[in-house]
Amino acid sequence: MATAEIEMTIRRPIFDYASTPRNWMPANPAFGYHLNGGSLTLPYLEPYLIRVMRRALEVLGDSRPDLREDVRLFSGQEANHYKIHSQFNALLRERYAGIEELEAKIEADFARMLREETLEWNLGYSAGFETTGMVMSQLFFEDVAESLAGADPAVEGLWGWHLAEEYEHRCVAFDVFQAVGGSYRERLRLFFYQANHLKTFGDKAARLMRDQDEAAGHLTIRPEHRAAHARIERRQMRCARRRIAWALLPWHDPRRHPVLSSADRFLKKLDYA
Ligand SMILES: [Fe+2]
Ligand SMILES: [Fe+2]
Repeated sequence: MATAEIEMTIRRPIFDYASTPRNWMPANPAFGYHLNGGSLTLPYLEPYLIRVMRRALEVLGDSRPDLREDVRLFSGQEANHYKIHSQFNALLRERYAGIEELEAKIEADFARMLREETLEWNLGYSAGFETTGMVMSQLFFEDVAESLAGADPAVEGLWGWHLAEEYEHRCVAFDVFQAVGGSYRERLRLFFYQANHLKTFGDKAARLMRDQDEAAGHLTIRPEHRAAHARIERRQMRCARRRIAWALLPWHDPRRHPVLSSADRFLKKLDYA
């Protein structure tokens, strides 16, 4: 089944970070800092995904014409994601010391993967990441309202837009991986590989930003708030684990997940170029 029946739209929203605070998600600071860490990977990760998909299309030749249009839309969305996240990342680079060194490391990782690993391996990594993208979208639009209470509207808008489009193209990397003959075992193995790879980077980046904010007195969390944050974080992790377990079942197909109407409503509230 082609993904043509799931609509993908390439959008260019506009965000203004002029009044974005460092702790932009005050109800769940840890998640906010982790999303910052995730944002830093995107100008390296998303061009990598586009390259992997292009290579896969070359291998598939004329055998799956239905996937060409899906990959074109996928690549158009991903290209906008990393370009628009780069504007936010410039703010992070301005605020924190040591960001460039972290970026150089993740950039080198993706270059190495493209150089040394097989197409099947890179497709498994990409499909694994796109599973994470789909789960993150579900979390953002269905499970994390309490984390988003009081969040900075510009950064919330950036992630909401990005994750709404991740949800729209949730089938593409999965379909291409299957079309090239990727096995369930590899899908599972590389899901955990990419999750660990990106988590290691994200944890390090989040720690760097948070430590600097704490040291400079930009982030002080009162003990009574600390317990509330931990409760929200635990609830969120439970939801994420349940959704990941479901997405990793052998018979899982991302197209079975229905449209997220809350994502559509969210997209209507943004400003576009
Ligand atoms: Fe993306
Ligand atoms: Fe994606």
